[in-house]
Amino acid sequence: MTDDTSNPLWSGRFTEATDAFVEAFTASEHYDRRLYRQDIRGSKAHARMLNHVGVLSDADTRAIVEGLDAIVEEIERGEFPWSPSLEDVHMNIEARLTERIGDAGKRLHTARSRNDQIATDVRLWLREAIDEAIALLRRFQAGLVDLAEREAETVMPGFTHLQVAQPITFGHHMLAWYEMLVRDEGRLADCRERANVMPLGSAALAGTTFPVDRDMTCAELGFDAPSRNSLDAVSDRDFAIEFLSASATIMTHLSRMAEELVLWSSPMFDFIDLPDRYCTGSSIMPQKKNPDVAELVRGKTARVHGALQTMLTLMKGQPLAYNRDNQEDKEPLFDAADTVVASLRAFADMVPNLTVKRENTREAARRGFATATDLADYLVRNGVPFRDAHEIVGRAVRYGVERGRDLAEMELDELRHFSPAIGDDVFDVLTLEGSVAARDHTGGTAPAQVRAQVAAARERLREG
Ligand code: ARG
Repeated sequence: MTDDTSNPLWSGRFTEATDAFVEAFTASEHYDRRLYRQDIRGSKAHARMLNHVGVLSDADTRAIVEGLDAIVEEIERGEFPWSPSLEDVHMNIEARLTERIGDAGKRLHTARSRNDQIATDVRLWLREAIDEAIALLRRFQAGLVDLAEREAETVMPGFTHLQVAQPITFGHHMLAWYEMLVRDEGRLADCRERANVMPLGSAALAGTTFPVDRDMTCAELGFDAPSRNSLDAVSDRDFAIEFLSASATIMTHLSRMAEELVLWSSPMFDFIDLPDRYCTGSSIMPQKKNPDVAELVRGKTARVHGALQTMLTLMKGQPLAYNRDNQEDKEPLFDAADTVVASLRAFADMVPNLTVKRENTREAARRGFATATDLADYLVRNGVPFRDAHEIVGRAVRYGVERGRDLAEMELDELRHFSPAIGDDVFDVLTLEGSVAARDHTGGTAPAQVRAQVAAARERLREG
């Protein structure tokens, strides 16, 4: 009966061929072929282990390992005959192996199921994706630290509600981004630990009757430990959810940075210049230099947030153990990983090369009464209760707004009109440089603190 069915790997119990539409509907080889390296690595480890425990002969094992190596080359030369009727990457490779080496190929799937195979492949693949993302995160962090050092003294307005709040240093702002990325790295490293557990040996769901040596495959594949429960190992994709959650957070951070880069490079702010090689022009407006890379990172954030939602929803209705639903995990996972890696790369290259228009950032802070809090703090030091000081400075600001003058531009007599507690030393605290330098404690914006944090960050990045 197997003659009229299309899939030689499981056609035994069927009496008619798979419907052509169903074949196309269930196939995944067009995207899961991306796992060929992990799949073959896992198969080689499995074959060697079966040989070690006496299930596979030396000759068969050698044929399998050599056949799989040849298949890697065939795939990489673009000559592998991928076939959707063989469903997925696993059966495509296994069928080809049997085509090449005969019966030994048919013995490879002993003590294994595609269920533990795919769970192993995805974990191996994700481990590499995490390592790549972490390397890029660290490159971006190092670039931000260099930029922070370069701009440790550069004054800019700090914002709350996007209104000028207090003067800060540009370096301090870059180190805020750096801190976000440090936590992002921690989340990925944490997720990698739980992802690095080996499902192989769980077989379809209950384990296998063969005397498998899971510690052996585990060591060969670089996993930290074999999974402790076969049902859990073949079915849960929470490690992918964790990766997507960490990725969604990374993209949220990058998107916030993108938003600031877009604002700052707009002529309305005019705080920075992005390198020309990361911008594009307009086909109609000759004057335009658009921050497309930043906008696309902000836009691509949506894909990664969507992938997280997809994976959560994919899992929520699944009874134990494996269900075919899980085949739907790969496209969002691949897409999200590609997006995070590309976005990190774009920012790691672009952001450290931006130019700060120091005159403009300083002028924006000066115009915005950014040192009003410094005046209030000054009054408090001279005995005025903070709430009264707040009120006094508020009146001085209103006076300045009406006359178009900043606090530092007023005469001492004018200022004393608002409070007799103001003396001629007030101008020290009203300058922008005085204001930022005064916030000189751990976490503060003072140039000295920025330099201290830069040194600490470099130390951390060196340690690895
Ligand atoms: N392509 C499947 C997946 O991605 C592999 C496992 C299929 N297992 C099965 N029993 N149909 O999940």
